[in-house]
Amino acid sequence: MSDEFVAVARLSQLPEGGTLRVRVDDNPVLLANVEGTVYACDDTCTHEDSSLYLGCLKGALISCTLHGSRFDVRTGEPQDPPASEPLATYAVRIEGEEILVSRTPRR
Ligand code: FES
Repeated sequence: MSDEFVAVARLSQLPEGGTLRVRVDDNPVLLANVEGTVYACDDTCTHEDSSLYLGCLKGALISCTLHGSRFDVRTGEPQDPPASEPLATYAVRIEGEEILVSRTPRR
């Protein structure tokens, strides 16, 4: 079960530069299309309970609307305080038009 992938969206729902909030099992996961590559990370900011989907994606950085921390969606690493803990990231697989996300975080 650990490396199982689940279909969460279609590529047509996620244009380049766009984001999408999906659920993997019961966890909210953020999908981001950075220059044609889809990345997946936790949608909930590691500082407080705020959805990153509400923020703005610039390049590979998603900003939190609550206190302004930005996270690199490719690695989950915070770029600015007050957040200091990284987001969990997930492997993504594309099969035809389907976007699949691993059920297991990378770390
Ligand atoms: S809740 Fe995201 S930076 Fe504070």
